[in-house]
Amino acid sequence: MEIINGDESKELLEAQAHVWKYTFNYITSMSLKCAVQLGIPDIIYNHGKPITLSELVKALSIPQIRSPYVYRLMRMLVHSGFFAIGKNHEHPDEEGYMLTPSSRLLLKNQASNLSPFLLMITDPVIVTSSHFMSTLFQGIGSLPVEVAHGMSIWDYFLKHPEFNKSFNDAMACDAQFVMSIVIQDCKTLFKGSKSLLDIGGGTGTAAKAISEAFPNLKCMVFDLPHVVSNLKDSENIEFVAGDMFESIPSADIILLKWIMHDWSDEECVMILKKCRKAIPSKDKGGKVIIIDIVIQTDKGKYESTESQLCFDMLMMVHATGKERTETEWEKLFLKAGFASYKITHALGLRSIIEVFP
Ligand SMILES: C[S@@+](CC[C@H](N)C(=O)[O-])C[C@H]1O[C@@H](n2cnc3c(N)ncnc32)[C@H](O)[C@@H]1O
Repeated sequence: MEIINGDESKELLEAQAHVWKYTFNYITSMSLKCAVQLGIPDIIYNHGKPITLSELVKALSIPQIRSPYVYRLMRMLVHSGFFAIGKNHEHPDEEGYMLTPSSRLLLKNQASNLSPFLLMITDPVIVTSSHFMSTLFQGIGSLPVEVAHGMSIWDYFLKHPEFNKSFNDAMACDAQFVMSIVIQDCKTLFKGSKSLLDIGGGTGTAAKAISEAFPNLKCMVFDLPHVVSNLKDSENIEFVAGDMFESIPSADIILLKWIMHDWSDEECVMILKKCRKAIPSKDKGGKVIIIDIVIQTDKGKYESTESQLCFDMLMMVHATGKERTETEWEKLFLKAGFASYKITHALGLRSIIEVFP
């Protein structure tokens, strides 16, 4: 019989805890999704002070007998930092649940509401494709999303208007969040320019934020027909339906937010070459602005790098694209004929890359 000494057992048990942490990670995502579906962040926000368990159960309009389920869900989400415990002065013997900066980002009707993104990423459509990740390594020749759903993710959006809406809402909430930071902290990005083309700009949230902050900038939102055909132009925003692999309109600045990571290196070079032709010289203000991940495995914080790598796996399952390191980005820019680039790490998990002709 094998005898395990103390140190070996400790190491084994730590290893098991590590295996369990990643085995169960999806339960944390699903618990958070459940809280958002129940509207718990909004209930706590509207309560205006720490909410006790019985107050929360009442506000959820569920029978008190289900209170232990609510307690267990909240215990999980307090542990993972989405809620905190505080004192409720009207009920000094009971603790109350409070929001944290993370759950404040999940409130409906707030400028920065990331819950549509959470709901889209945890949707069965996306999760199901991930079950087929191993097919990538078996030479089947299709992406896991195609094995799971019988079509590319782009065709899936086209054929499933409800999921297409969920995806566009997820993109819009992210655009709202990111652009508010870009506009507050990186105003000079758009200074002196007269026109901006947002390629793959979805339903126009980023362009709307930019044109409100810079009323002299004419914005065009370019996307596939099923995304923009029914959208109405406004004074400063024009929606243009098309395919970026065929032709794109000209502008001083081209914005590519969350576009390049969807596509392979070859496809990115094709898109970038089209952009290069569509903008003026650097002296005349021509540039491409990319908002995407720059993987920083060595310098990044552990949690941020892990999320960046998760995004890379998501791309591997759903698209031909990937997340890139600075060296990988640079190769694309040079291949597409650009002269220089500047990376600003101002967006947490993502960066702003200005690419100059
Ligand atoms: C990941 S989303 C990014 C949306 C938006 N830029 C944002 O960050 O919120 C990718 C966008 O590219 C669009 N797209 C995909 N293929 C395209 C093509 N061939 N031509 C133009 N747009 C395309 C999609 O419809 C979608 O809106």
